[in-house]
Amino acid sequence: MRNTVNDAISYSIGAGGKGIRRQLANAATKAVNPASHPIINNIADALECIHTYSLIHDDLPAMDDDDMRRGKPSCHVVYGEAIAILAGDALQAKAFELIADAPELSANQKVQMVKVLASAAGAEGMVGGQAIDIESEGQSLTLDELRELHGLKTGALIRASVILGGIAAGASQQQLDALDRFADQIGLAFQVVDDALDVEGSTEALGKTQGKDQDADKATYVKLLGLEGAKAEAQNLLASALEALESFGSHADELRELAHFIVSRDR
Ligand code: IPE
Ligand code: IPE
Ligand code: MG
Ligand code: MG
Ligand code: MG
Repeated sequence: MRNTVNDAISYSIGAGGKGIRRQLANAATKAVNPASHPIINNIADALECIHTYSLIHDDLPAMDDDDMRRGKPSCHVVYGEAIAILAGDALQAKAFELIADAPELSANQKVQMVKVLASAAGAEGMVGGQAIDIESEGQSLTLDELRELHGLKTGALIRASVILGGIAAGASQQQLDALDRFADQIGLAFQVVDDALDVEGSTEALGKTQGKDQDADKATYVKLLGLEGAKAEAQNLLASALEALESFGSHADELRELAHFIVSRDR
């Protein structure tokens, strides 16, 4: 029977994000094997499905209560909270269906990918980080606690994006370890910069409401280290992320470009 959940999904996916997780997966594939195809589309789509689901839920009134996303009214503003929750649920399920259906991958690669993505998305990954984020509003965290929070709520899916790219290209364990060291640092940097942009970015460029973190007294790098301190930390993280790529030589240039973009972006 006709319902609006698919409309809500198309609306949020169609609003178009930067596609960083898709690009990271592609670039990781190239770092491992520049002759290989760009990462299987289904895998990149799966990553963006999990990410978009996390944003739909992140904006709900019970979470960050943000009425703007990707330059448009948030999913729940247009379709209502119940359908927005269901759209997020469906996108999460879709991600795993896409991996199962991916062409050109072995069953073994798919099982590895399901395991990596499920761990990154779940209570020991993104969802765990989101829970800590909500329960840390109004609290003072130590730097180690903040690093854990950001590493989970945002870093985990970025790590999974890079690792899935590596698995798709048939990376060795040594290559996966190097990719993981890169992604660990750049994933954290991504959220440090997101915290800084919440303070100094513009609602227009960001496509989401600027200043939300301060309103909710969120645990952020800016709250703990100040704006300049947060920016310096992002640069440190960039430097150690780049170090982890040395063994890939010029094959990792696309990953390097993305890493620079992540810390210098304005949106
Ligand atoms: C925003 O992610 C949410 C965080 C994890 C910080 P992005 O900045 O990648 O959002 P889109 O996909 O471009 O909209
Ligand atoms: C979001 O962190 C992380 C996830 C959606 C998993 P934020 O709450 O800082 O993201 P924005 O700033 O709303 O995009
Ligand atoms: Mg949030
Ligand atoms: Mg938010
Ligand atoms: Mg934010």
